[in-house]
Amino acid sequence: MNIAILSRNPKLYSTARLVEAAQQRGHEVRVIDTLRCYMNIATDKPSIHYKGEDLNDFDAIIPRIGASVTFYGTAVLRQFEMMGVFPVNESVAITRSRDKLRSLQLLSRKGIGLPVTGFAHSPDDVQDLIKMVGGAPLVIKLLEGTQGIGVVLAETKKAAESVIDAFLGLKVNIMLQEYVKEAGGADIRCLVIGNKVVAAMKRQAPEGEFRSNLHRGGSASLIKICLL
Ligand SMILES: Nc1ncnc2c1ncn2[C@@H]1O[C@H](COP(=O)(O)OP(=O)(O)OP(=O)(O)O)[C@@H](O)[C@H]1O
Ligand SMILES: [Mg+2]
Repeated sequence: MNIAILSRNPKLYSTARLVEAAQQRGHEVRVIDTLRCYMNIATDKPSIHYKGEDLNDFDAIIPRIGASVTFYGTAVLRQFEMMGVFPVNESVAITRSRDKLRSLQLLSRKGIGLPVTGFAHSPDDVQDLIKMVGGAPLVIKLLEGTQGIGVVLAETKKAAESVIDAFLGLKVNIMLQEYVKEAGGADIRCLVIGNKVVAAMKRQAPEGEFRSNLHRGGSASLIKICLL
């Protein structure tokens, strides 16, 4: 197959590993800088151009679109989709995943267990919302954020109120979530293809931290998931 990896930097570990794995399997693979793609939204023949070249012979796209370029990146990917190129992750799926509330709503619709989560707009509803998620300690999250940034643990009701006030004052959207203490700073990340978990890893936060993100100093280990 002729595969394009949409990535800003071919030297990133994740991008380089994908190139290596694709080559090992005998595929043609090329890293394309997402932000250098430009497009013609024509009805009869949508196209994508790259540094003067017409990109028209890819069979599949592996999007590696960072949170900071979600808007442009998903527009480029959508254009490839319109041209009939197969995306490993669809543009709509990426957009959904970038909004924590939207992704939780989708997971809950499919009956997946979630920590109690609340969302409100008006500061007048905050007190009731705190009660709704079970009081302190609780987790406050920016709706848009990744690598653990904007995920805050409030140990007391007072601390929760001041963090919430500060965020609402900045006019950013936040959600409140029940704190899952028994996780002990660990979480399990499952990679799903189709309906199947094909790989899993456990991430563990360092001492004194509840967020397991590797960017926040967490460590990762391989685990096996057993479905009962
Ligand atoms: N309700 C919670 N209770 C306990 N720990 C939590 C809770 N929510 C998040 N955490 C910890 O904080 C980490 C970061 O939270 P989360 O995954 O929601 O944000 P993110 O990693 O910044 O965003 P995304 O996963 O969408 O990129 C989680 O991996 C988990 O270890
Ligand atoms: Mg996360």
